Amino acid sequence: MLRIVILGAAAGGGLPQWNCGCANCVDARGGKIAASTQASLAVSVDDTNWFLINAAPDLRQQLSATPRLHPKHCALRHSPIAGVILTNAEVDAVAGLLSMRETSPFALYAHPRVLAVLQSNPIFDVLNPAHVARVPIAPGTPFIPDSADGRPAGFEVTPFAVAGKQALYLEGAANTDEGDTIGLTLRDHASGKTAHIVTACARITADLVARLDGADAIFFDGTLWRDDELIRSGLGHKTGARMGHVAMDGPDGALARLDGVNAKRKVFVHINNSNPVWQRDSAERAAVTRAGWEIGHDGMEIVL
Ligand code: MLT
Ligand code: MN
Ligand code: ZN
Repeated sequence: MLRIVILGAAAGGGLPQWNCGCANCVDARGGKIAASTQASLAVSVDDTNWFLINAAPDLRQQLSATPRLHPKHCALRHSPIAGVILTNAEVDAVAGLLSMRETSPFALYAHPRVLAVLQSNPIFDVLNPAHVARVPIAPGTPFIPDSADGRPAGFEVTPFAVAGKQALYLEGAANTDEGDTIGLTLRDHASGKTAHIVTACARITADLVARLDGADAIFFDGTLWRDDELIRSGLGHKTGARMGHVAMDGPDGALARLDGVNAKRKVFVHINNSNPVWQRDSAERAAVTRAGWEIGHDGMEIVL
């Protein structure tokens, strides 16, 4: 049984974002719509060993809100988190690592380009190498994460390259290359069930469509409804394409391009606070639902 918990469904900044007065953020502050923390998922096949997919800045709050991830066995020091798998080096994917600095052992899996970013920043040295192994992973090379006792975790992870870009704070300092953004395919050894996790995707290629087809669940980049949403709403000057995020709407958007993809559950995650789908009664939310997609929310649990 592959159990996947959405710890946070929102994109970088969360909902509400600290400095944002947009309608969604105002409604989230006022309790009219649910607030959401920044994107991170947790997966497990045994409900004993858990693996985070990205460590959001809100990790501490997310762990407090998720009893499955609380220390067990009445031990003075324990965490069910046996590993963290990173899909990119954005602040919203790595900052939570700084909250995991209390010398508990876990493995950190990431592409060498992402590991290099952590390596180049001494603040991540708070993760003591004596307790936290940094394990390089490569697109097209499956791996089985280790349980806390060193045994295989019971599911396989295959990273795959996704169109994307280097972290926002590295723009200008480094060029985008393969490995800056990856997707993950999870496969439960016992049941053969598969889930794909793509929290950032700049472009939906034919290869990606073929890969996602036939899955039991897809968790996909839902940052924006429209490519020019931030510009039209006066919140920013960048398009989704410029930010490395394909929109939901439009001819090249996720709804159109993934329309033929057959999957039992299709869930949007990493949803920006500007996205009108946060509003349950919006036309955009209705369009998403009609297309067979779900809007992820904090605490949402899917068991495959
Ligand atoms: C992104 O997904 O584009 C980044 O999280 C942006 C950011 O860090 O603000
Ligand atoms: Mn992000
Ligand atoms: Zn906002």
